[in-house]
Amino acid sequence: MSVTLGIDIGTSGTKTLAIDERGAILASASAEYPCDHPRPGWSEQDPQLWWDATVKTVQAVLVQGRFKADDVAGIGLSGQMHGSVFLDDAGQVIRPALLWNDQRTAAECAEIEERAGGREALVRMVANPALTGFTAPKLLWVRKHEPKAWDRVRQVLLPKDYIRYRLTGTYATEVSDASGTLMLDVANRRWSTELLGKLDLDPKLLPPCYESPEVSSQVSGQGANATGLKPGTPVVGGGGDQPAGAVGNGIVRPGVVSATMGTSGVVFAHTAELGFDPLGRLQRGCHAVPGAFHVMGVVLAAGGSLQWFRNELGKAEMALAKERGIDPYFILSDEAATVGPGAEGLFFLPYLTGERTPHFDPDAKGAWIGLTVRHGRGHLIRSILEGAAYAMRDSLELIREMGTAIHQIRVSGGGARNPLWRQIQADVYGHDVHTLQSTEGPALGVAILAQVGTGGYASVAEACDAIIRLEDRTSVDPKGEMFYNRGYVLYRQLYHDLRASFQKIGKLVGES
Ligand code: XUL
Repeated sequence: MSVTLGIDIGTSGTKTLAIDERGAILASASAEYPCDHPRPGWSEQDPQLWWDATVKTVQAVLVQGRFKADDVAGIGLSGQMHGSVFLDDAGQVIRPALLWNDQRTAAECAEIEERAGGREALVRMVANPALTGFTAPKLLWVRKHEPKAWDRVRQVLLPKDYIRYRLTGTYATEVSDASGTLMLDVANRRWSTELLGKLDLDPKLLPPCYESPEVSSQVSGQGANATGLKPGTPVVGGGGDQPAGAVGNGIVRPGVVSATMGTSGVVFAHTAELGFDPLGRLQRGCHAVPGAFHVMGVVLAAGGSLQWFRNELGKAEMALAKERGIDPYFILSDEAATVGPGAEGLFFLPYLTGERTPHFDPDAKGAWIGLTVRHGRGHLIRSILEGAAYAMRDSLELIREMGTAIHQIRVSGGGARNPLWRQIQADVYGHDVHTLQSTEGPALGVAILAQVGTGGYASVAEACDAIIRLEDRTSVDPKGEMFYNRGYVLYRQLYHDLRASFQKIGKLVGES
């Protein structure tokens, strides 16, 4: 039996799972941790929390599984993208890591664009515009605001690569996660010495960069003592959580696209060519499939909008769900199902934490528009499900506009578990949607990459063909599609109508 482990360092917790060569899940464990927000818009985590959670979950998986550490052929690492871990010359963490959802770097993003010679020049160098969550602006922020700490920085790592360092003692990364640093020459799959030069950043700060299924290092004696793994176990490159999740969903060929609604919503497509958009409206990067690329659109609060409703306005449903031992989202969904498409003219804009794709607007705000006395809770909820789906359609439209054909859409996350939301997605996207048998996402994706890297399969596509299975298909209802096509035109207009007001609201409350 060839067992591989996938370890995913998420924002709210770490998940480790073990699979055999046919993709059967042999064991799985997760451990949660908090995230610090020392100021509004700031988001930090102590990397030690990730390591403690890794140790705990790997130990748990080794105890649970009907296999021994000796049977583990390889390990894949995945994690929240864009974060930055700052290490000194002894490999010690200097300050808490700045995370993907940290918004403090607007000034540094402007500085990067200027030093690069404008947005288009920047997109030519690193395939993306400067976004506040990306890694490079974080380096500039620490250099400017914490010069003493910056003087000690000798190595910068992404979250999962810090775990690789603790596990193997080796500094390394891989191209899919490195694409989200804004320092990778994505087209050539190596660090952009051109941009690093313009930003006065020493390339030695960054680790060697591998392809995702390639073996990067081996578990060290220290890593083995801490986790119970065998010293010498190979660790493959792995992937950022989105590209890794895409492998877990079988998005490894052109034409197959995923729409994942977790807290954020991500539309992800595999592309053979990198492509170019001077405005950089979609995130582009190397895929975890060697030689291939990806484009993705990120909606910051897709499932997060419904989660907000549940927490703030759904306390009664939460209490009822607890009493009945069921998921509160099912009660919310039943309420929404009493209302027809369009929620009788009620629109919801899901920009509760600003928006990334397609607006790149940290000032964007959430809104209900069209509210009348006829509307009740069912309408409010249905409009949230529809608003999140419209926001995802924005990314699908951009992907189509940029010449990527879409033959199949695979849905996952909370938005896929709920049948009403699945139907809304199919009708809003104007495309049938498929669910998958496995919902393990990034951890499964990197366990698959480890199977490939340790010789179990000849390619990522071959492994996915053997392991990933479709489960269910939700077909487009032509009437729903027709209605939502008209609704979408209006939805798109609403952001443009309100953009200036969102900024004024920000100024009024002293945000900008
Ligand atoms: C992707 C992104 C998030 C993080 C955290 O660009 O910002 O998906 O990777 O999950």
